[in-house]
Amino acid sequence: MQKSILITGGAGFIGSHVVRHFVHTYPEYRIIVLDKLTYAGNLANLADMEGKANYFFEKTDIADETAVSEIFAKHRVDAVLHLAAESHVDRSITHPLEFIQTNVIGTANLLNAARKQWTSGDHLFYQISTDEVYGSLGAEGKFTEMTPYDPRSPYSASKASADHFVRAYGHTYGLPVVLSNCSNNYGPFQFPEKLIPLMINNIIQEKPLPVYGDGSNVRDWLWVGDHVKAIDLIFHQGKNGETYNIGGDNELSNLRLLHILCDQMDQKLDKTQGTARKLITFIKDRPGHDKRYAIDAGKLKTELGWRPETNFENGIEQTIDWYLSNREWLENIISGEYMHYYQQQYHT
Ligand code: NAD
Ligand code: DAU
Repeated sequence: MQKSILITGGAGFIGSHVVRHFVHTYPEYRIIVLDKLTYAGNLANLADMEGKANYFFEKTDIADETAVSEIFAKHRVDAVLHLAAESHVDRSITHPLEFIQTNVIGTANLLNAARKQWTSGDHLFYQISTDEVYGSLGAEGKFTEMTPYDPRSPYSASKASADHFVRAYGHTYGLPVVLSNCSNNYGPFQFPEKLIPLMINNIIQEKPLPVYGDGSNVRDWLWVGDHVKAIDLIFHQGKNGETYNIGGDNELSNLRLLHILCDQMDQKLDKTQGTARKLITFIKDRPGHDKRYAIDAGKLKTELGWRPETNFENGIEQTIDWYLSNREWLENIISGEYMHYYQQQYHT
């Protein structure tokens, strides 16, 4: 059966992996990418999709009511995989309103277009969300799907609000919806404002490695390809109205992660062990910095048979190799807007 699937944010980090997977795995689907191409959206991430018969691209803002409605009609959209977002916590602290505009208003706008156009037939609105909506953990415990929402940054508050709108449209209008809340992803094509690619880039450039606070904050890291597999399963087999947590069973403090990264980078760059570690610099903490995230993905494992397959050692090596062999991609990003952002954020 031919389906038209709208993937929002398809030119971003996770989105580009999702698009590539769906275009290759499901040639019978029409994949329409809707992306505003903000600083984080990059057509170079989708260069290998150009010319594919089942791939289409629309440069549009998800908050633009008329444009979104026209795209729904033009492509007869059957389902939405919603990834478009302002995604960086630090930027949400300096520019919170942009996060409300895209993550809250933009999501509500997409939901409204879906509600109006999906009057009959088989449809799905899939909201890709984050574990940050659950707040911050102490030393023990993990987030489950039953954990109450407690967002603590403008980014997580905007994602939590968007999730509430998705569930509200499900309850009020009977819109078929499904949600997933995932932990920190890593892998190729991640924008170098995020911890891992930022540190890889700084090690290449022999610049200081800025660690917020004392580096003891913990994140649960997941290989992006494992996230994509979970998204595929949930899209095809998830139950209407349900939420699924996705995590890597891979908790690391930022400092521990950085030590692993530094040591592997020294090897790859033929440097003496300990060289990169000397670049580590402790700086002022992120305001409201969440201490620890950890995901219990038991529901997804039991009900849909998913497992994270790529261990961290392997995934981080693949990630480093990708950044080292795609220096042009990195060079193109770390000029202009990125330099400006970097100077403001890190006072260099
Ligand atoms: P990203 O910042 O790399 O990409 C976001 C994409 O959305 C970009 O292509 C950008 O151009 C597009 N976009 C932004 N505003 C838009 C707008 N108004 N209209 C249309 N397009 C717009 O983000 P990512 O890290 O790939 O995250 C994708 C999604 O997954 C987000 O919803 C994020 O909240 C969620 N998520 C991310 C992670 C993670 O670790 N990166 C973890 C869990 C959930
Ligand atoms: O948990 C899922 C979330 O993970 C996603 O929803 C977000 O979109 C994604 O950006 C990510 O949020 P984090 O804030 O956890 O990711 P970030 O890479 O910004 O930071 C990871 C950790 O590293 C965090 O504890 C802050 C710390 N950090 C980050 C940067 C950029 C530093 O110590 N120094 C830095 O320069």
